[in-house]
Amino acid sequence: MTAPSEKLLLFGATGDLSQRMLLPSLYGLAAEELLPAGLAIVATARSAHDDTSFRAFADQALRRFVPGERLTEEALASFLGRLRYVPVDASNESDFAALAEVVGSTEKGLSIFLSTAPSLFSATIDGLAKAGLAGEGVRIGLEKPLGYDMASSRQINDAVARVFPEHRIFRIDHYLGKETVQNLLALRFANSLFEPLWRAGGIDHVQITVSETVGLEGRVGFYDGAGAIRDMVQNHMLQLLALVAMEPPSRYDSTAVRDEKVKVLRSLRPIDRTNANSHSVIGQYGAGAVAGGAVPGYIDELGKPSDTETFVALKAHIDNWRWRGVPFYLRTGKRLPSRQSEIFIQFKSVPHSIFDGRGAVLQPNKLIIRLQPDENVRLLMMSKVPGLDREGMRLREMPLDISLPNAFADTRRRIAYERLLLDLIEGDQTLFVRRDEVEAQWEWIDGIRDGWAANAMKPKTYTAGTWGPSAAIALTERDGVTWHD
Ligand code: BG6
Repeated sequence: MTAPSEKLLLFGATGDLSQRMLLPSLYGLAAEELLPAGLAIVATARSAHDDTSFRAFADQALRRFVPGERLTEEALASFLGRLRYVPVDASNESDFAALAEVVGSTEKGLSIFLSTAPSLFSATIDGLAKAGLAGEGVRIGLEKPLGYDMASSRQINDAVARVFPEHRIFRIDHYLGKETVQNLLALRFANSLFEPLWRAGGIDHVQITVSETVGLEGRVGFYDGAGAIRDMVQNHMLQLLALVAMEPPSRYDSTAVRDEKVKVLRSLRPIDRTNANSHSVIGQYGAGAVAGGAVPGYIDELGKPSDTETFVALKAHIDNWRWRGVPFYLRTGKRLPSRQSEIFIQFKSVPHSIFDGRGAVLQPNKLIIRLQPDENVRLLMMSKVPGLDREGMRLREMPLDISLPNAFADTRRRIAYERLLLDLIEGDQTLFVRRDEVEAQWEWIDGIRDGWAANAMKPKTYTAGTWGPSAAIALTERDGVTWHD
């Protein structure tokens, strides 16, 4: 059991992620007394703040992003009192010395949360090491982007590994901090009901959709160099797929869970030059309407021509015993009709219908695990429609619903980062991504991108507010499968 850190060092403290997620998460944890009592938080970024002006900055961010009912003046003042600020320019070695002086001894544990531009990555890691901020008691949490392909990801991982051993590296995928994503593990491994069917014999196909209504959101520099496959599939969606498809780990701990995930990721059948055309579809949104309002196309938002995909749909296979022949359809995109993340599992149909010939169409059972915006689990089952049925029994698909916010109405829904920051501070790696997982993810993604390049595939335009290019519909319809919208 590792001891909780007594200090936290927050890089990128004036950035968007910090204002929207990190500071509110830390405030939430502090207000509930979940942080180690004396945890000191040293914030850093390039901006020229001092302690007082940074506290004022944090005060503003918290008032803006923490829901009013959770903000008390007392908790706010006490939280702000924990904050110190040191400006750091990563290219300037002496800044790290000043930082180390404020941080002080790391013997009783320091957790670092690092989110920085890839170009500053190595300099930051070196700066930390030289300033004595990478010793035994120091853990480092790494926020994406951690590279843009296998080669650059290896470079970053090597740079970190020169200074930190793997057991002190916490690679963040914020989807793993989501309550509903962890609930997937509970659903699969705390119930005996599903496991016997959770395989090729019982499941027809799986769909994973992460759709967003937002567009570029001003992230011009980052997004255009990434596109949907690197921004969403390489990390979040492959983690979801791994959790859905993995074998039961022998226990819930960081080694057992991650060992099983990496086995799935390595079993992904390559999509490459030979089949990229038939197994993937890419799109880019044009002007359209989302939520009743007109929105410009991607290129207009960006202000220059671009072949970056804002939508991707894939047909994946996992080549192992459990999943032989079961397609996993993945789909994600920006400017789609609704914000909706879900895992949709379609079971096999009953082997023989005793109701045939009486006008009753049997639907296969479906399990829908909705991650957001609402969180629920629904099992669609066939049920008898009440009545005398003198012309044959009538059947209808009915949902068996577990709506999490209702079932657990008295528990607060947390930001994913609350969980992840706490685990980083307490040293639990279970919900963080290990290097071998990241590399298995990149290997698959690089193959797909290479397939696109070799086949000169360009994104097809789709109207903002629709479910991507029509080819994405054809991708599943060819197999007799309809996307669950
Ligand atoms: C981020 C991506 O990792 O995840 C964004 O960079 C995306 O493009 C976001 O919008 C989605 O996260 P969430 O938690 O809102 O589903």
